[in-house]
Amino acid sequence: MSAGIDRLAAYVPQYALPLEELARARGVPPEKLTQGLGVEEMAVPAPCEDVVTLGATAGARVLQAAGVDPREIGMLVVATETAVDHAKPVGIFIHELLGIGPRCRVYEVKHACYAGTAALMAAADWVRAGGPRGRRALVIAADVARYPLGSPGEPTQGAGAVAMLVGRDPRALILGEETGVHARQVWDFWRPLDRREAVVDGKFSVECYLDALGAAFAAYRALERPALQRDEVLSDRLARVLYHTPFPKMAAKAHRRLLEVDLRATHARWTAAEADFERVVAESFAEQVAPGLGAIRRIGNAYTASLYLCLAGLLEAEGRRLGARRIGLFSYGSGSCAEFFGGLVPASVVEAGDAGLARMLAARTRIGVDEYERLVAAAESGGDAPPGFGGAFVFRGVRRDRREYAPIEREAA
Ligand code: CAA
Repeated sequence: MSAGIDRLAAYVPQYALPLEELARARGVPPEKLTQGLGVEEMAVPAPCEDVVTLGATAGARVLQAAGVDPREIGMLVVATETAVDHAKPVGIFIHELLGIGPRCRVYEVKHACYAGTAALMAAADWVRAGGPRGRRALVIAADVARYPLGSPGEPTQGAGAVAMLVGRDPRALILGEETGVHARQVWDFWRPLDRREAVVDGKFSVECYLDALGAAFAAYRALERPALQRDEVLSDRLARVLYHTPFPKMAAKAHRRLLEVDLRATHARWTAAEADFERVVAESFAEQVAPGLGAIRRIGNAYTASLYLCLAGLLEAEGRRLGARRIGLFSYGSGSCAEFFGGLVPASVVEAGDAGLARMLAARTRIGVDEYERLVAAAESGGDAPPGFGGAFVFRGVRRDRREYAPIEREAA
């Protein structure tokens, strides 16, 4: 029985800061951000948004698009590193906002940017264990990336959510059952309980990511069935490869490392490629990776939602072309845990591949650096929806130590 993502929907906050403007304000050459990091715009949330409203909006959209009654959801897992309470999970707020019934397992998962994949794997296993019962799970990956203003991490901020309906005979991505994992305790990126912004050892985090990719991909490669022939490379069996993308240049570095591991495993292919390796990497990147980066260039890092925003963007842009082809996905969470896995895009993806991303990105409001800094200072202060607000829910604020949320329809009534 196949299990995987039946449908996915995305939500990205309405404000977009062009990175060229940020570069000018910080006295940095714009090309360093647009080419060196590969980011064009950064998504910035409104004060009435937090990870609950981002995730709930994506969740409402996926249920509506799939025509699924919320009471059919038997498992709701929210993956985030931007949680709003130390005990109460983000998922239980979303459970109420979406009208999901009481017969539902609800919990939150955290492992930096890896959590969305942990949640997806748990949900797929739960669906498989249910056999013909046709269980349905809702997995939501949502985050708001925050670094100190003026720090090297600042241009890689972003925000967004992806909701994935997980079930049998999926129409968007059939997950392979074998995956390659790699875990190692490292201090590359973390956020102590009393801080709003992440602490990061940036250059070291890039090394940790690449080392984890090499190890997870090698583990995945070893499990490949049918087994690879002597001079065959696994990347030839993948139509596209998606990477956790804190900034698009990271995906380029990652693909270079993946090809190196893959080609070096076969004497003949590595010998043929070695002398002209940069060209081999560039051609492969253009075909296998670049098509999945269009949306993320305009969103920034959405931490655990990042890989799934890439998937949503890829299926929207290329779903028809990818029908019946296999793709590879790499998830990295600082701290660290990494997983390389694969999925088959079914021919039916055409009807399930529209996550609403392109429409949302086209409708955003561009802001300048002054407005961005005002929004950062007012982050999660709560309140009413601003004009042009695209979300389905607002965070009203905290009263009697309780966070209050409301659907936008009720607001307007
Ligand atoms: N024109 C074009 N390119 C330029 C340039 C210019 N004028 N000036 C510099 N560049 C290039 C540099 O050559 C460099 O490219 P390469 O890496 O290919 O050499 C690139 O721009 C970045 O320059 P620097 O390395 O000097 O940038 P930096 O010191 O400002 O920091 C960073 C970069 C470490 C990634 C920083 O943005 C950061 O700390 N980011 C947050 C951490 C992060 O995203 N880590 C990724 C791995 S961990 C992970 O994935 C988990 C997660 O989500 C956080």
